[in-house]
Amino acid sequence: MKSRQLRAVAAAFLAALPSLLACAVSATADKPAPAIASGKQFTAAQMAFFEKDVLPILQANCFKCHGAGKSRGGLRLNSRDTILKGGDTGPAVSLDKPDESLLLRAIHYKDNLQMPPGGKLPQKHIETLTRWVKEGLPWTPGTTVVERPDDKGGRITEESKNYWAYRPVQRPAVPAVKDRAWVRTPVDAFVLAKLEAKGLAPSPPADRIALVRRVTYDLTGLPPSPEAIDAFLKDDSPDAYERLVDRLLASPHYGEKWGRHWLDLVRFAETNGYERDGPKPFAWRYRDYVIKSFNDDKPYDRFLREQLAGDEIDRDNPEAIIATGYYRLGLWDDEPADPPQARADDFDDIVATTSPLALQRHARDIVALQPHRHLPAQAGRLGTGAEAARGAHRRTAGRHDADRG
Ligand code: HEC
Repeated sequence: MKSRQLRAVAAAFLAALPSLLACAVSATADKPAPAIASGKQFTAAQMAFFEKDVLPILQANCFKCHGAGKSRGGLRLNSRDTILKGGDTGPAVSLDKPDESLLLRAIHYKDNLQMPPGGKLPQKHIETLTRWVKEGLPWTPGTTVVERPDDKGGRITEESKNYWAYRPVQRPAVPAVKDRAWVRTPVDAFVLAKLEAKGLAPSPPADRIALVRRVTYDLTGLPPSPEAIDAFLKDDSPDAYERLVDRLLASPHYGEKWGRHWLDLVRFAETNGYERDGPKPFAWRYRDYVIKSFNDDKPYDRFLREQLAGDEIDRDNPEAIIATGYYRLGLWDDEPADPPQARADDFDDIVATTSPLALQRHARDIVALQPHRHLPAQAGRLGTGAEAARGAHRRTAGRHDADRG
């Protein structure tokens, strides 16, 4: 089977895009709240222990899924009350039998519920949380911990360096499974291990009609033709499926289906936006360039470079010039009230579109947090992005009072 670089890349982007803001956390007192749910008072030392040792662990490892934003399993760990109330299964901590607390079982990886799901905490953290639970969950009275998205101010933290996209690629060990006969490729073992851990059995294999239908939709976005179904049903050869996939990858509809995801990421539209929403002539040429790139299985780095600097790297190649239509895709105001601001908005738009494509999540977050009048000086990488974009001029001919200000 042919390699499909662009396909893998597009899928990775889609998976990474809804990334969370990495949030700093600050405790805010709702009210003085002298009484604590259990009627227990904590010493100053216990409170310091909570704030200095416990809270940072929760912050770094749990709040992403159990904080002010998300409550996976129905559980929020950002206040003492919500911990005691618990999630879908019940209280996360039992004050009467702290050793049996769901939270402790989860972090010790005692049974199926293993928290955090990505990997066991270091032993020292587990001991800290265990001591905290056994001491009756000391907590700054009456506080709920809320995330403030702007606290990091563009600094690169240890946590962000540890983000999966920046870690070197490693080949994980293939997990052991009970039903070894079911596993045909190592990937199957990962799926089956999770199913077995939850006591679930895999679905039976799809019949051939379902298979041809699914794979055709997946690769081309279209249903298979009756002839294609018949041909596949009649094909008894052991590599019938592989050859079906190759046929679909070779179909021009492959690029039409998968190119659409890229067009979404770069905010492709054939009109300008704003009140009049006039047409962007020839935008379809860029669209066709994207589709063709997918169908040609163009290497991803080449694909990206052509769009960012096709006129610099390959100026005699019409394809590479068309690729730079990328810079023309954003909103275009044909009657800006404040032309210098409109120009700054154009830069901002280009940086905000390019950063997540090229740099993944952090730069994007910073852009989202900065008012565009101040392109972020503190984020070196982005400063460079804005400088690069400065060379790009979106069309101003046809603008009513462009650049008069
Ligand atoms: C990446 C997301 C994620 C992170 C990080 C995470 N959890 Fe969870 N947690 C879940 C999900 C999802 C569930 C729901 C149960 C399941 O599907 O396993 C859950 C369930 C739980 C439950 C059981 C809730 C109930 O009552 O059903 C506890 C207790 C828990 N987590 C504790 C923690 C602790 C403590 C941490 C940090 C050390 C943590 N989790 C980090 C995703 C996460």
